[in-house]
Amino acid sequence: MLASKALVNVLFLTSEVHPFAKTGGLGDVSAALPAALNRAGHDVRVFLPLYGRIDLRKHRMRRVESLRDLRVSFGGRAWTLQVLAAPLPGSTLEVFFLHCPELYARQGIYTHDADEHLRFLVLSCGALTAAQRMRFAPDVVHCNDWPTALTPLLLETRFAWDKDIFGGTKTVLTIHNLNYQGMFPAHVLPDTGLADSAHLFHQDQLREGRINFLLHGVLYADALTTVSPTYAREIRTPEYGAGLDGLLRARGNALSGILNGIDHGEWNPQTDAHLPARYSARDLSGKRTCKQRLLASAQLPYVEQAPLFAIVSRLAGQKGLDLVPDALAPLLRRHPLQLVVLGSGERRLVRMFRELERHFPRQVRFRDTFDVGLSHRIEAGADFFLMPSRYEPCGLNQMYSLRYGTVPVVRKTGGLSDTVRQWNPRTGEGTGILFDHHDAAGLRWATETALQLFNDPVAFRRLQEAGMAEDFSWDAQVAEYEQVYPRGRAPHTKG
Ligand code: ADP
Ligand code: GLC
Repeated sequence: MLASKALVNVLFLTSEVHPFAKTGGLGDVSAALPAALNRAGHDVRVFLPLYGRIDLRKHRMRRVESLRDLRVSFGGRAWTLQVLAAPLPGSTLEVFFLHCPELYARQGIYTHDADEHLRFLVLSCGALTAAQRMRFAPDVVHCNDWPTALTPLLLETRFAWDKDIFGGTKTVLTIHNLNYQGMFPAHVLPDTGLADSAHLFHQDQLREGRINFLLHGVLYADALTTVSPTYAREIRTPEYGAGLDGLLRARGNALSGILNGIDHGEWNPQTDAHLPARYSARDLSGKRTCKQRLLASAQLPYVEQAPLFAIVSRLAGQKGLDLVPDALAPLLRRHPLQLVVLGSGERRLVRMFRELERHFPRQVRFRDTFDVGLSHRIEAGADFFLMPSRYEPCGLNQMYSLRYGTVPVVRKTGGLSDTVRQWNPRTGEGTGILFDHHDAAGLRWATETALQLFNDPVAFRRLQEAGMAEDFSWDAQVAEYEQVYPRGRAPHTKG
Protein backbone atom coordinates (compact mmCIF):
# COMPACT_ATOMS: atom_id res chain seq x y z
CA MET A 1 0.00 0.00 0.00
CA LEU A 2 2.78 2.37 0.98
CA ALA A 3 4.51 2.01 -2.36
CA SER A 4 1.56 3.39 -4.33
CA LYS A 5 1.06 6.35 -2.03
CA ALA A 6 2.89 9.66 -2.24
CA LEU A 7 4.97 10.23 0.87
CA VAL A 8 5.24 13.84 1.92
CA ASN A 9 7.59 16.03 3.92
CA VAL A 10 5.61 17.78 6.63
CA LEU A 11 6.82 20.72 8.69
CA PHE A 12 4.41 20.71 11.64
CA LEU A 13 4.23 23.93 13.69
CA THR A 14 2.44 24.01 17.00
CA SER A 15 2.46 25.76 20.36
CA GLU A 16 1.78 22.57 22.40
CA VAL A 17 2.93 18.95 22.30
CA HIS A 18 2.09 16.43 25.03
CA PRO A 19 3.96 15.42 27.25
CA PHE A 20 6.21 18.47 26.94
CA ALA A 21 3.73 21.33 27.02
CA LYS A 22 -0.05 21.09 27.08
CA THR A 23 -3.01 23.19 28.14
CA GLY A 24 -5.66 21.15 26.33
CA GLY A 25 -6.43 18.93 23.36
CA LEU A 26 -4.05 20.74 20.98
CA GLY A 27 -1.18 19.18 22.95
CA ASP A 28 -2.63 15.68 22.58
CA VAL A 29 -3.32 16.10 18.86
CA SER A 30 0.10 17.65 18.11
CA ALA A 31 1.74 14.54 19.56
CA ALA A 32 -0.54 11.83 18.19
CA LEU A 33 -1.13 13.14 14.65
CA PRO A 34 2.57 13.60 13.76
CA ALA A 35 3.29 10.18 15.29
CA ALA A 36 0.58 8.60 13.13
CA LEU A 37 1.83 10.42 10.00
CA ASN A 38 5.30 9.13 10.81
CA ARG A 39 3.99 5.55 11.14
CA ALA A 40 2.39 5.97 7.71
CA GLY A 41 5.84 6.71 6.28
CA HIS A 42 5.77 10.52 5.99
CA ASP A 43 8.75 12.61 7.07
CA VAL A 44 7.39 14.89 9.80
CA ARG A 45 9.39 17.57 11.61
CA VAL A 46 7.54 19.03 14.57
CA PHE A 47 8.62 22.41 16.02
CA LEU A 48 7.54 24.14 19.19
CA PRO A 49 9.11 26.63 21.62
CA LEU A 50 11.22 25.44 24.54
CA TYR A 51 9.06 26.94 27.29
CA GLY A 52 10.49 27.51 30.76
CA ARG A 53 8.24 24.80 32.19
CA ILE A 54 9.77 22.01 30.05
CA ASP A 55 12.10 19.85 32.09
CA LEU A 56 15.21 19.21 29.95
CA ARG A 57 16.54 16.25 31.92
CA LYS A 58 13.24 14.42 32.21
CA HIS A 59 12.79 14.41 28.43
CA ARG A 60 16.31 13.39 27.40
CA MET A 61 16.87 16.53 25.34
CA ARG A 62 19.83 16.73 23.02
CA ARG A 63 21.24 19.78 21.33
CA VAL A 64 21.04 19.66 17.53
CA GLU A 65 24.52 20.77 16.52
CA SER A 66 23.68 21.09 12.83
CA LEU A 67 21.07 23.72 13.73
CA ARG A 68 23.31 25.72 16.06
CA ASP A 69 22.91 29.53 16.17
CA LEU A 70 19.95 29.96 13.85
CA ARG A 71 19.55 33.63 13.09
CA VAL A 72 16.04 35.02 12.86
CA SER A 73 15.55 38.71 12.29
CA PHE A 74 12.62 40.87 11.35
CA GLY A 75 11.09 44.20 12.26
CA GLY A 76 14.44 45.62 13.39
CA ARG A 77 15.07 42.85 15.95
CA ALA A 78 17.22 39.75 15.81
CA TRP A 79 17.31 36.53 17.77
CA THR A 80 19.80 33.70 17.84
CA LEU A 81 18.10 30.36 18.41
CA GLN A 82 19.45 27.02 19.47
CA VAL A 83 17.54 23.87 18.62
CA LEU A 84 17.05 20.95 20.97
CA ALA A 85 15.42 17.64 20.17
CA ALA A 86 13.74 14.98 22.30
CA PRO A 87 12.14 11.66 21.49
CA LEU A 88 8.35 11.71 21.39
CA PRO A 89 7.29 8.96 23.78
CA GLY A 90 5.67 5.98 22.08
CA SER A 91 7.00 7.01 18.65
CA THR A 92 10.21 6.91 16.65
CA LEU A 93 9.74 10.61 16.00
CA GLU A 94 11.88 13.35 17.51
CA VAL A 95 10.38 16.73 18.35
CA PHE A 96 12.36 19.95 17.81
CA PHE A 97 12.35 22.78 20.34
CA LEU A 98 13.38 26.35 19.65
CA HIS A 99 15.50 27.62 22.50
CA CYS A 100 15.33 31.36 22.99
CA PRO A 101 15.24 32.24 26.70
CA GLU A 102 14.45 35.89 26.02
CA LEU A 103 11.08 34.85 24.55
CA TYR A 104 10.24 31.45 25.98
CA ALA A 105 11.82 31.08 29.43
CA ARG A 106 8.54 31.93 31.14
CA GLN A 107 6.15 29.70 33.02
CA GLY A 108 3.18 30.16 30.72
CA ILE A 109 2.71 28.71 27.26
CA TYR A 110 0.50 31.66 26.39
CA THR A 111 1.05 35.02 28.08
CA HIS A 112 -0.43 38.49 28.05
CA ASP A 113 3.04 39.97 27.70
CA ALA A 114 3.69 42.80 25.27
CA ASP A 115 5.83 40.57 23.01
CA GLU A 116 3.30 37.72 22.66
CA HIS A 117 3.07 38.24 18.87
CA LEU A 118 6.86 38.04 18.59
CA ARG A 119 7.03 34.81 20.61
CA PHE A 120 4.97 32.98 18.02
CA LEU A 121 6.28 34.79 14.94
CA VAL A 122 9.73 33.63 16.00
CA LEU A 123 8.35 30.09 16.21
CA SER A 124 7.17 30.30 12.58
CA CYS A 125 10.30 32.02 11.26
CA GLY A 126 12.61 29.85 13.36
CA ALA A 127 11.05 26.62 12.06
CA LEU A 128 11.19 27.83 8.44
CA THR A 129 14.82 28.89 8.92
CA ALA A 130 15.60 25.48 10.43
CA ALA A 131 14.01 23.80 7.39
CA GLN A 132 16.34 25.84 5.15
CA ARG A 133 19.38 24.85 7.21
CA MET A 134 18.35 21.17 7.16
CA ARG A 135 17.69 21.38 3.39
CA PHE A 136 14.27 19.96 4.28
CA ALA A 137 11.89 21.01 1.50
CA PRO A 138 8.42 20.61 2.96
CA ASP A 139 5.57 19.53 0.72
CA VAL A 140 3.34 20.77 3.49
CA VAL A 141 3.71 23.30 6.25
CA HIS A 142 1.00 22.30 8.70
CA CYS A 143 0.04 25.14 11.06
CA ASN A 144 -2.20 24.87 14.10
CA ASP A 145 -4.40 27.62 15.52
CA TRP A 146 -3.59 31.33 15.77
CA PRO A 147 0.00 31.07 17.09
CA THR A 148 1.31 29.77 13.75
CA ALA A 149 -1.41 31.14 11.47
CA LEU A 150 0.76 33.88 9.95
CA THR A 151 3.09 31.25 8.48
CA PRO A 152 1.32 31.04 5.08
CA LEU A 153 1.73 34.82 4.72
CA LEU A 154 5.40 34.56 5.73
CA LEU A 155 5.91 31.96 3.01
CA GLU A 156 4.28 34.29 0.47
CA THR A 157 6.56 37.16 1.44
CA ARG A 158 9.76 36.83 3.49
CA PHE A 159 10.53 33.25 2.48
CA ALA A 160 9.20 33.39 -1.10
CA TRP A 161 12.70 33.86 -2.54
CA ASP A 162 13.80 30.38 -1.47
CA LYS A 163 12.35 28.36 -4.31
CA ASP A 164 14.68 25.42 -3.63
CA ILE A 165 13.16 24.79 -0.23
CA PHE A 166 9.69 26.29 -0.38
CA GLY A 167 8.97 26.36 -4.13
CA GLY A 168 6.67 23.34 -3.91
CA THR A 169 5.31 23.97 -0.41
CA LYS A 170 1.59 24.01 0.34
CA THR A 171 0.14 25.20 3.61
CA VAL A 172 -2.54 23.66 5.79
CA LEU A 173 -4.06 25.47 8.74
CA THR A 174 -5.93 23.36 11.27
CA ILE A 175 -8.40 25.31 13.39
CA HIS A 176 -8.69 23.63 16.78
CA ASN A 177 -10.66 26.48 18.26
CA LEU A 178 -11.99 29.43 16.25
CA ASN A 179 -12.58 31.59 19.30
CA TYR A 180 -8.91 32.10 20.10
CA GLN A 181 -7.74 34.30 17.23
CA GLY A 182 -4.55 36.02 18.38
CA MET A 183 -5.70 39.63 18.21
CA PHE A 184 -3.03 42.35 18.40
CA PRO A 185 -3.10 46.14 18.01
CA ALA A 186 -2.28 47.31 14.48
CA HIS A 187 0.75 49.22 15.74
CA VAL A 188 2.65 45.90 16.00
CA LEU A 189 2.69 45.70 12.19
CA PRO A 190 6.28 47.05 11.88
CA ASP A 191 7.37 44.46 14.49
CA THR A 192 6.27 41.66 12.21
CA GLY A 193 8.71 42.69 9.50
CA LEU A 194 5.79 42.66 7.09
CA ALA A 195 5.13 46.42 7.00
CA ASP A 196 6.17 46.47 3.33
CA SER A 197 3.46 43.85 2.69
CA ALA A 198 0.79 45.81 4.57
CA HIS A 199 -1.47 45.54 1.51
CA LEU A 200 -1.67 41.78 2.13
CA PHE A 201 -3.20 42.29 5.56
CA HIS A 202 -6.95 42.54 5.99
CA GLN A 203 -7.48 46.24 5.27
CA ASP A 204 -10.70 46.80 7.24
CA GLN A 205 -9.14 45.27 10.32
CA LEU A 206 -6.00 47.36 9.96
CA ARG A 207 -8.15 50.49 9.71
CA GLU A 208 -10.01 49.40 12.82
CA GLY A 209 -6.65 49.12 14.58
CA ARG A 210 -6.28 45.33 14.74
CA ILE A 211 -4.22 42.47 13.36
CA ASN A 212 -5.84 39.09 13.75
CA PHE A 213 -3.37 36.22 13.28
CA LEU A 214 -5.96 33.49 12.73
CA LEU A 215 -7.84 35.50 10.13
CA HIS A 216 -4.71 35.73 7.97
CA GLY A 217 -4.28 31.99 8.17
CA VAL A 218 -7.86 31.59 6.99
CA LEU A 219 -7.09 33.96 4.09
CA TYR A 220 -3.76 32.53 2.98
CA ALA A 221 -3.50 28.84 3.86
CA ASP A 222 -3.93 26.59 0.82
CA ALA A 223 -6.15 24.24 2.79
CA LEU A 224 -8.11 24.75 5.99
CA THR A 225 -9.15 21.95 8.24
CA THR A 226 -10.94 21.83 11.51
CA VAL A 227 -11.26 18.98 13.93
CA SER A 228 -14.72 17.55 13.25
CA PRO A 229 -17.16 17.54 10.33
CA THR A 230 -19.94 19.15 12.39
CA TYR A 231 -17.71 21.99 13.59
CA ALA A 232 -16.62 22.54 9.97
CA ARG A 233 -20.28 23.22 9.17
CA GLU A 234 -21.02 25.18 12.33
CA ILE A 235 -18.21 27.72 11.88
CA ARG A 236 -19.73 28.86 8.60
CA THR A 237 -22.69 30.23 10.58
CA PRO A 238 -22.83 33.52 12.51
CA GLU A 239 -23.67 31.64 15.72
CA TYR A 240 -20.39 29.68 15.76
CA GLY A 241 -18.28 31.70 13.32
CA ALA A 242 -16.74 34.10 15.89
CA GLY A 243 -16.82 36.88 13.30
CA LEU A 244 -14.97 34.80 10.67
CA ASP A 245 -17.98 32.91 9.28
CA GLY A 246 -18.16 35.10 6.16
CA LEU A 247 -14.53 34.40 5.29
CA LEU A 248 -14.96 30.72 6.08
CA ARG A 249 -17.95 30.55 3.75
CA ALA A 250 -15.92 32.32 1.07
CA ARG A 251 -13.16 29.74 1.50
CA GLY A 252 -15.66 26.91 1.81
CA ASN A 253 -14.06 24.80 -0.94
CA ALA A 254 -10.77 24.79 0.93
CA LEU A 255 -12.31 23.92 4.31
CA SER A 256 -12.90 20.39 5.57
CA GLY A 257 -13.61 18.75 8.91
CA ILE A 258 -11.37 15.85 9.95
CA LEU A 259 -12.29 14.23 13.21
CA ASN A 260 -9.47 13.94 15.74
CA GLY A 261 -8.38 10.49 16.76
CA ILE A 262 -7.13 9.43 20.17
CA ASP A 263 -3.79 7.94 21.06
CA HIS A 264 -4.51 4.30 21.76
CA GLY A 265 -1.10 3.83 23.35
CA GLU A 266 -1.64 6.65 25.83
CA TRP A 267 -5.33 6.00 26.51
CA ASN A 268 -5.90 2.29 26.96
CA PRO A 269 -7.50 0.86 30.12
CA GLN A 270 -5.72 -2.46 29.55
CA THR A 271 -2.23 -0.95 29.81
CA ASP A 272 -2.62 2.50 31.43
CA ALA A 273 0.19 2.87 33.99
CA HIS A 274 -1.66 5.70 35.78
CA LEU A 275 -4.41 3.32 36.96
CA PRO A 276 -4.49 1.29 40.17
CA ALA A 277 -6.05 -1.62 38.22
CA ARG A 278 -6.44 -2.37 34.53
CA TYR A 279 -9.44 -3.74 32.70
CA SER A 280 -11.04 -4.54 29.37
CA ALA A 281 -14.58 -4.71 27.98
CA ARG A 282 -14.68 -8.43 28.76
CA ASP A 283 -13.73 -8.00 32.40
CA LEU A 284 -14.67 -4.71 34.03
CA SER A 285 -13.73 -5.72 37.59
CA GLY A 286 -10.62 -3.51 37.41
CA LYS A 287 -12.90 -0.55 36.67
CA ARG A 288 -14.67 -1.10 39.99
CA THR A 289 -11.29 -1.02 41.75
CA CYS A 290 -10.49 2.22 39.92
CA LYS A 291 -13.77 3.71 41.15
CA GLN A 292 -13.18 2.62 44.74
CA ARG A 293 -9.64 3.99 44.77
CA LEU A 294 -10.65 7.25 43.11
CA LEU A 295 -13.40 7.84 45.66
CA ALA A 296 -11.06 6.95 48.52
CA SER A 297 -8.47 9.44 47.25
CA ALA A 298 -11.22 12.04 46.95
CA GLN A 299 -12.38 11.20 50.49
CA LEU A 300 -15.84 10.30 49.27
CA PRO A 301 -17.68 7.15 50.38
CA TYR A 302 -18.07 4.25 47.95
CA VAL A 303 -21.77 3.53 47.55
CA GLU A 304 -22.57 0.59 45.28
CA GLN A 305 -25.80 2.03 43.84
CA ALA A 306 -24.55 5.61 43.46
CA PRO A 307 -23.32 6.57 40.01
CA LEU A 308 -20.15 8.65 39.85
CA PHE A 309 -20.18 11.54 37.39
CA ALA A 310 -16.95 13.24 36.35
CA ILE A 311 -15.64 16.37 34.69
CA VAL A 312 -12.07 16.95 33.51
CA SER A 313 -11.84 20.29 31.77
CA ARG A 314 -10.28 23.62 31.20
CA LEU A 315 -12.53 25.92 33.19
CA ALA A 316 -13.57 28.23 30.36
CA GLY A 317 -16.87 29.61 29.06
CA GLN A 318 -16.70 27.28 26.03
CA LYS A 319 -17.21 24.24 28.23
CA GLY A 320 -20.66 25.37 29.44
CA LEU A 321 -19.96 24.29 33.01
CA ASP A 322 -21.91 27.19 34.49
CA LEU A 323 -24.99 25.00 33.94
CA VAL A 324 -23.79 22.37 36.39
CA PRO A 325 -25.00 23.78 39.74
CA ASP A 326 -28.52 24.60 38.51
CA ALA A 327 -28.86 21.32 36.68
CA LEU A 328 -27.37 19.03 39.31
CA ALA A 329 -28.15 20.58 42.71
CA PRO A 330 -31.80 19.38 42.74
CA LEU A 331 -30.64 15.88 41.78
CA LEU A 332 -27.82 15.86 44.34
CA ARG A 333 -30.40 16.71 47.03
CA ARG A 334 -32.63 13.74 46.34
CA HIS A 335 -30.23 11.16 44.93
CA PRO A 336 -26.91 9.76 46.26
CA LEU A 337 -25.11 10.48 42.95
CA GLN A 338 -21.52 11.72 43.22
CA LEU A 339 -19.46 14.15 41.19
CA VAL A 340 -15.68 14.50 40.85
CA VAL A 341 -14.35 17.57 39.04
CA LEU A 342 -10.78 18.21 37.89
CA GLY A 343 -10.22 21.57 36.25
CA SER A 344 -8.27 24.78 36.24
CA GLY A 345 -8.91 28.12 34.63
CA GLU A 346 -11.36 30.96 35.15
CA ARG A 347 -11.71 32.17 38.72
CA ARG A 348 -15.52 32.45 38.63
CA LEU A 349 -15.78 28.77 37.69
CA VAL A 350 -13.28 27.76 40.38
CA ARG A 351 -15.45 29.62 42.91
CA MET A 352 -18.58 28.00 41.52
CA PHE A 353 -17.27 24.44 41.94
CA ARG A 354 -15.89 25.25 45.42
CA GLU A 355 -19.34 26.41 46.39
CA LEU A 356 -20.98 23.27 45.00
CA GLU A 357 -18.48 21.14 46.94
CA ARG A 358 -19.24 23.13 50.12
CA HIS A 359 -22.96 22.44 49.71
CA PHE A 360 -22.52 18.72 49.04
CA PRO A 361 -19.35 17.71 50.89
CA ARG A 362 -20.20 14.00 50.87
CA GLN A 363 -21.07 13.93 47.16
CA VAL A 364 -18.94 16.47 45.31
CA ARG A 365 -15.16 16.79 45.15
CA PHE A 366 -13.35 19.50 43.21
CA ARG A 367 -9.62 19.57 42.42
CA ASP A 368 -8.45 22.94 41.12
CA THR A 369 -5.27 21.82 39.38
CA PHE A 370 -3.85 20.36 36.16
CA ASP A 371 -2.92 16.71 36.75
CA VAL A 372 -2.53 14.28 33.85
CA GLY A 373 -2.33 11.14 36.03
CA LEU A 374 -5.49 12.10 37.88
CA SER A 375 -7.28 12.79 34.59
CA HIS A 376 -6.62 9.15 33.60
CA ARG A 377 -7.78 7.83 36.99
CA ILE A 378 -10.97 9.87 36.73
CA GLU A 379 -11.71 8.59 33.22
CA ALA A 380 -11.31 5.04 34.53
CA GLY A 381 -13.10 5.42 37.87
CA ALA A 382 -16.21 7.32 36.77
CA ASP A 383 -19.50 5.88 35.51
CA PHE A 384 -20.49 8.99 33.52
CA PHE A 385 -18.52 11.87 32.02
CA LEU A 386 -20.15 15.30 31.65
CA MET A 387 -19.40 17.70 28.77
CA PRO A 388 -22.14 20.34 28.55
CA SER A 389 -20.10 22.41 26.04
CA ARG A 390 -21.47 25.58 24.46
CA TYR A 391 -19.35 24.71 21.45
CA GLU A 392 -16.81 21.91 21.02
CA PRO A 393 -14.57 21.78 17.93
CA CYS A 394 -13.87 18.11 18.61
CA GLY A 395 -13.38 17.24 22.26
CA LEU A 396 -11.16 14.34 23.27
CA ASN A 397 -12.45 13.45 26.71
CA GLN A 398 -15.70 11.98 25.42
CA MET A 399 -13.61 9.61 23.27
CA TYR A 400 -11.34 8.75 26.19
CA SER A 401 -14.51 8.10 28.21
CA LEU A 402 -15.93 5.74 25.59
CA ARG A 403 -12.67 3.80 25.56
CA TYR A 404 -12.70 3.58 29.38
CA GLY A 405 -16.29 2.31 29.63
CA THR A 406 -17.42 5.65 31.07
CA VAL A 407 -20.67 6.77 29.47
CA PRO A 408 -20.46 10.32 28.06
CA VAL A 409 -23.27 12.79 28.77
CA VAL A 410 -22.72 15.60 26.29
CA ARG A 411 -24.27 18.58 24.57
CA LYS A 412 -25.08 17.84 20.94
CA THR A 413 -22.58 20.15 19.28
CA GLY A 414 -19.39 19.97 17.18
CA GLY A 415 -17.27 16.88 17.61
CA LEU A 416 -19.42 15.68 20.49
CA SER A 417 -22.27 14.98 18.10
CA ASP A 418 -19.88 13.27 15.67
CA THR A 419 -18.53 10.84 18.27
CA VAL A 420 -21.33 10.00 20.71
CA ARG A 421 -24.41 8.09 19.56
CA GLN A 422 -27.66 8.73 21.44
CA TRP A 423 -28.85 5.93 23.71
CA ASN A 424 -32.24 4.59 22.67
CA PRO A 425 -33.92 2.98 25.72
CA ARG A 426 -36.25 1.00 23.46
CA THR A 427 -33.61 -0.68 21.32
CA GLY A 428 -30.65 -0.41 23.72
CA GLU A 429 -28.56 1.10 20.89
CA GLY A 430 -26.16 4.00 21.35
CA THR A 431 -23.02 4.92 23.26
CA GLY A 432 -24.02 7.92 25.38
CA ILE A 433 -26.54 10.62 26.17
CA LEU A 434 -26.84 13.86 24.19
CA PHE A 435 -28.90 16.97 24.90
CA ASP A 436 -29.76 19.69 22.42
CA HIS A 437 -30.32 23.00 24.13
CA HIS A 438 -27.60 24.58 26.16
CA ASP A 439 -29.55 25.23 29.33
CA ALA A 440 -29.85 23.77 32.81
CA ALA A 441 -33.06 21.96 31.89
CA GLY A 442 -31.24 20.19 29.04
CA LEU A 443 -28.37 19.08 31.25
CA ARG A 444 -30.77 18.04 34.02
CA TRP A 445 -32.78 15.95 31.57
CA ALA A 446 -29.57 14.27 30.36
CA THR A 447 -28.40 13.59 33.92
CA GLU A 448 -31.78 12.13 34.88
CA THR A 449 -31.60 9.92 31.80
CA ALA A 450 -28.16 8.78 32.99
CA LEU A 451 -29.62 7.90 36.41
CA GLN A 452 -32.35 5.90 34.71
CA LEU A 453 -29.75 4.08 32.63
CA PHE A 454 -27.61 3.33 35.68
CA ASN A 455 -30.62 1.67 37.34
CA ASP A 456 -30.73 -0.83 34.50
CA PRO A 457 -27.43 -2.75 34.82
CA VAL A 458 -27.99 -4.74 31.63
CA ALA A 459 -28.60 -1.63 29.52
CA PHE A 460 -25.72 0.20 31.23
CA ARG A 461 -23.31 -2.65 30.55
CA ARG A 462 -24.42 -2.81 26.94
CA LEU A 463 -23.68 0.89 26.50
CA GLN A 464 -20.27 0.52 28.12
CA GLU A 465 -19.40 -2.31 25.76
CA ALA A 466 -20.66 -0.44 22.70
CA GLY A 467 -18.53 2.57 23.67
CA MET A 468 -15.43 0.48 24.30
CA ALA A 469 -15.83 -1.14 20.89
CA GLU A 470 -15.72 2.21 19.03
CA ASP A 471 -12.56 2.83 17.04
CA PHE A 472 -11.20 6.37 17.14
CA SER A 473 -7.64 5.50 16.21
CA TRP A 474 -5.47 8.10 14.47
CA ASP A 475 -4.33 5.73 11.76
CA ALA A 476 -7.76 5.97 10.09
CA GLN A 477 -7.71 9.77 10.28
CA VAL A 478 -4.28 10.04 8.68
CA ALA A 479 -5.82 8.96 5.37
CA GLU A 480 -8.04 12.04 5.53
CA TYR A 481 -5.06 14.35 6.05
CA GLU A 482 -3.37 12.63 3.11
CA GLN A 483 -6.36 13.68 1.02
CA VAL A 484 -5.91 17.31 2.03
CA TYR A 485 -2.12 17.46 1.74
CA PRO A 486 -1.60 16.99 -1.99
CA ARG A 487 -4.47 19.25 -3.10
CA GLY A 488 -3.47 22.08 -5.44
CA ARG A 489 -2.88 25.62 -4.32
CA ALA A 490 -6.11 27.53 -3.85
CA PRO A 491 -6.51 30.99 -5.32
CA HIS A 492 -6.12 33.60 -2.63
CA THR A 493 -8.82 35.95 -1.47
CA LYS A 494 -7.03 39.06 -0.35
CA GLY A 495 -8.61 41.29 2.27
P1 ADP B 1 -9.80 21.45 25.00
O1 ADP B 1 -8.66 21.28 24.08
O2 ADP B 1 -10.82 22.39 24.51
O3 ADP B 1 -9.38 21.78 26.38
P2 ADP B 1 -10.23 18.56 24.64
O4 ADP B 1 -11.31 17.68 25.14
O5 ADP B 1 -9.89 18.47 23.23
O6 ADP B 1 -10.59 20.04 25.09
O7 ADP B 1 -8.88 18.20 25.38
C1 ADP B 1 -8.64 18.46 26.71
C2 ADP B 1 -7.39 17.71 27.13
O8 ADP B 1 -6.83 18.36 28.26
C3 ADP B 1 -7.68 16.29 27.54
O9 ADP B 1 -6.53 15.49 27.34
C4 ADP B 1 -7.94 16.47 29.04
O10 ADP B 1 -7.78 15.28 29.76
C5 ADP B 1 -6.92 17.50 29.38
N1 ADP B 1 -7.24 18.30 30.57
C6 ADP B 1 -8.09 19.35 30.66
N2 ADP B 1 -8.09 19.85 31.91
C7 ADP B 1 -7.22 19.10 32.62
C8 ADP B 1 -6.76 19.11 33.98
N3 ADP B 1 -7.22 20.01 34.85
N4 ADP B 1 -5.85 18.19 34.35
C9 ADP B 1 -5.38 17.28 33.46
N5 ADP B 1 -5.77 17.21 32.18
C10 ADP B 1 -6.67 18.10 31.75
C1 GLC C 1 -9.39 22.65 20.96
C2 GLC C 1 -10.87 22.36 21.12
C3 GLC C 1 -11.19 20.89 21.36
C4 GLC C 1 -10.35 20.00 20.47
C5 GLC C 1 -8.88 20.32 20.65
C6 GLC C 1 -7.96 19.46 19.80
O1 GLC C 1 -8.77 23.01 22.14
O2 GLC C 1 -11.46 23.15 22.11
O3 GLC C 1 -12.56 20.67 21.12
O4 GLC C 1 -10.58 18.65 20.77
O5 GLC C 1 -8.64 21.64 20.30
O6 GLC C 1 -8.23 19.57 18.43
